[in-house]
Amino acid sequence: MTAVDVNLYGTVHGGVIMKFIDDVAGAAAARHSGGTAVTASIDEIVFAEPLRVGDLVHAFAQVNWTGHTSMEVGVRLVAERWDQVPESEPVVVATAYLVFVAVDAEGKPRPLPAVVPDSPQNEGRWREAEIRREHRLARREAIQRHRNHKH
Ligand SMILES: CC(C)(COP(=O)(O)OP(=O)(O)OC[C@H]1O[C@@H](n2cnc3c(N)ncnc32)[C@H](O)[C@@H]1OP(=O)(O)O)[C@@H](O)C(=O)NCCC(=O)NCCS
Repeated sequence: MTAVDVNLYGTVHGGVIMKFIDDVAGAAAARHSGGTAVTASIDEIVFAEPLRVGDLVHAFAQVNWTGHTSMEVGVRLVAERWDQVPESEPVVVATAYLVFVAVDAEGKPRPLPAVVPDSPQNEGRWREAEIRREHRLARREAIQRHRNHKH
């Protein structure tokens, strides 16, 4: 992280972190789907700890869940504090869950390979992605019902 990334308070701007998260998730989604994938929605970004200028940031992303053309990507950002290496452990600074849709050259959704959870940890991530999806759909439906009532 460099001085161009900071906000008025001297820590790294949330928008910079969001772009980083989107880029990393996009790379995982493109690799998994073997082509272009676009961000459809972001379920959650948690900024757990501030990032500071000089921090070395590592990003981890994986496809947690796949549907027919959409997939959920989980991202974790971990920072090494430049002035605390090697005595302190890297810190988890942000986690996020994003939904990407694989698209063809016309921007239309295209089918993608299923991800197969290959460990208890990945089975857990698949299940948690399903929970987020159920909640996302239920919320969208509830808001739609509310809007229909108003008219
Ligand atoms: C994402 C996009 C391709 C979906 O197109 P669409 O015509 O609405 O697609 P469909 O209704 O046929 O749904 C296709 C899939 O996307 C999923 N999807 C669509 N909108 C979604 C949303 N808001 N959140 C999560 N998933 C969504 C559907 O559940 C479906 O998944 P499935 O195939 O796994 O069952 C389209 O909305 C789009 O191009 N959006 C702009 C993307 C963009 O510019 N992103 C920023 C830059 S990368």
